[in-house]
Amino acid sequence: MKQPFQILLYCSLIGLASLASAQNHNSIPIIFDTDFAMPPTDDALALMLALQSPELNILGITTVAGNSSLERATSDVLRMLEIAERIDIPVYEGADLPLVHRISNFAVNKYGSWYSDAPPPEPYGGYAKKKIENQSAAVYIEKKVLANPGEITIVALGPLTNIAQAIQNNPDFAKKVKRLFIMGGAIASLPDGSGNITPNAEYNFWVDPEAARITLRSGIPIELSPLNVSRKSALTRDWYEKMVAVKTPLTDLLKIGLGPRFKEDPDRVWLMYDQITIASLIDPSLVVSKKMYVDVNDNHDISYGVSIAGSEVWPGAEGAQKMNVQYDLDWPRFMQLFIKRLQQPLND
Ligand code: RIB
Ligand code: CA
Repeated sequence: MKQPFQILLYCSLIGLASLASAQNHNSIPIIFDTDFAMPPTDDALALMLALQSPELNILGITTVAGNSSLERATSDVLRMLEIAERIDIPVYEGADLPLVHRISNFAVNKYGSWYSDAPPPEPYGGYAKKKIENQSAAVYIEKKVLANPGEITIVALGPLTNIAQAIQNNPDFAKKVKRLFIMGGAIASLPDGSGNITPNAEYNFWVDPEAARITLRSGIPIELSPLNVSRKSALTRDWYEKMVAVKTPLTDLLKIGLGPRFKEDPDRVWLMYDQITIASLIDPSLVVSKKMYVDVNDNHDISYGVSIAGSEVWPGAEGAQKMNVQYDLDWPRFMQLFIKRLQQPLND
């Protein structure tokens, strides 16, 4: 009969083995949380970069409503993993609605369809055969982190609903997360810090302000990648043509998703929000950041979802925590990395 200590040791060894079974034993184990949709979304290009980067070991992907509905995020990411020949990566479905924020005429008339209950459109090449795992995103995130304390980095590229649920579900969770990379927020006190959905609010934080505030105040070591650094990128048609100059299943997907958009509007410039967040984990020297206290407004008023940062805590922000706030980017080196990884053979 195994003794409790032996059972604990056995489970720990299994947990570590699942982390160590990485493409590269020195790679960073991550959970990739995303409001995914197929290209041209930045989530899709960020996942391509993560999949093609040996520095990262994607333990699991969790989906959340944001750019599109939860169903679309899940349906598209399952199909993307088939195209990228990575059906080994498990997918866990998360929150279909923010913690509190509910549909409004403003939400319906602006960008995004997080509230939609329409069936997901058929992804390129048809609906995926790969299925989701039988565990919710928040439970998966909580249990994976608790089983591997201090080991796992979470990359959150959509509204922070899943992360906030994991924080609320278990008081031990936050202190066991190694690091949390977040694409979100806009810091008006730094250059290029206006909002992109309301005058001062960034989309991910605005979809779920309550989740953003809970997450930013959780004590998890955070690397914030706000619009300030996103706006130092500019994916133009020229850059697109460099990207797709080498044929791979991923660049073929880019042609399907981005090609027609550049045909329709040759002068369009796409910001690379989520790709920068992933790249800053792969090579921190690509970004410039500064330590700031950051808080989020969750009052249902003109500043709902607005993030504010300062060098010290200010009245009303008591409890806010310090974090790295990215505000500048080495654009040429970033694009050199992105294009090189994108053009490599799959799982090279
Ligand atoms: O504001 C930009 C963010 O909102 C990006 O993560 C984009 O994918 C959307 O989720
Ligand atoms: Ca996103």
